[in-house]
Amino acid sequence: MHILVTGGAGYIGSHVVKQLIETTTHRISILDNLSTGHRSTVDTLNQIARDKGSRKGITFYHEDLKHFDTIKKIFETGSFDAVMHFAASIVVPESVENPLKYYMNNTVNTTHLIQLCTAYNVKHFIFSSTAAVYGEPNEPQVTETTRTLPINPYGRSKLMSEQVLQDATQAHKDFSHVILRYFNVAGADIHNRIGQSFPNATHLIKVAAQTVIGSRENMMIFGDDYATPDGTCIRDYIHVDDLASAHLRALEYLEEGRDSSVFNVGYGHGYSVKEVVLTMKEVSNTDFSVLMAPRRAGDPAVLISNNSKIKSVLRWSAQYDDLALICQTALAWERTVQN
Ligand code: UFG
Repeated sequence: MHILVTGGAGYIGSHVVKQLIETTTHRISILDNLSTGHRSTVDTLNQIARDKGSRKGITFYHEDLKHFDTIKKIFETGSFDAVMHFAASIVVPESVENPLKYYMNNTVNTTHLIQLCTAYNVKHFIFSSTAAVYGEPNEPQVTETTRTLPINPYGRSKLMSEQVLQDATQAHKDFSHVILRYFNVAGADIHNRIGQSFPNATHLIKVAAQTVIGSRENMMIFGDDYATPDGTCIRDYIHVDDLASAHLRALEYLEEGRDSSVFNVGYGHGYSVKEVVLTMKEVSNTDFSVLMAPRRAGDPAVLISNNSKIKSVLRWSAQYDDLALICQTALAWERTVQN
């Protein structure tokens, strides 16, 4: 199979490409505008392919999905069997300030990409969606049938793309998809070859790791007056390599000719912000400075996946369900990018 991975030079996409290289013989092309991805990540992935003895290098298109004519030309010559679509804007507060960036980059570009897939006989599409589509759910553990009511443009831009994909699939019988709704992704490659290199990161575990190594003086906990046992928000943190393996399972599932579907990807249990901070302090043996701050707008108190569906239908199972390991790998990577 020939797989096009958009955003393959970025955080999650690169971990998926790494696993595709390590466990399959598929031909891989990456398309990335390098706005948050890195050329050095593509080089590392090519090195991983060489280490595995693969003679096939990765084809790299340094391109932006908004350049419709160029993307069309890539499809004309590419003969892709599947597209894994990671390229997107993902910062919630930015989406509130600049919603059109999110609707253009996420929804419009995804729509165009889906159109090309249907026009050029791509069989399968795997879409990176988000737990943000659920907004502030009433139930603490959300299933795929929990009502979707996103509370910010980021979540809406992803939900609209899901709908476009579902409608396109209805209309094209040879086209199938899997939508993966990610919970809180964190950590890095166990061998510390790739990780999350994102300027102005806002994600809790990344921020805590940056505070350990001193690239931030301190960090803040946004709100300790939530209706949770210690007053701080609870999230379902999943190691990036477990998230990545869900994509490989999804691809196999579609190859088996199974029906298009949507899956939550999380561990099904959560940790509070204070528990995460404490774990980072323990694994780093550093008592870094943590300040209390007011609630951050739009944060639901608790967001945990019900992951029964992905476990039973995709036969996905977690390997790294260990908050200390997630923190350790995030920290090891932070130390590497700092150097
Ligand atoms: N938090 C802090 N201090 C920080 C950063 C975060 O207290 O410096 C808190 C947040 O307030 C929140 C929790 O840590 O309560 C997790 O926040 P993140 O920013 O790490 O992640 P979010 O839960 O806001 O969002 C992430 C992704 C979304 C995705 C969502 C799904 O950014 O794309 O997980 O759960 F939709």
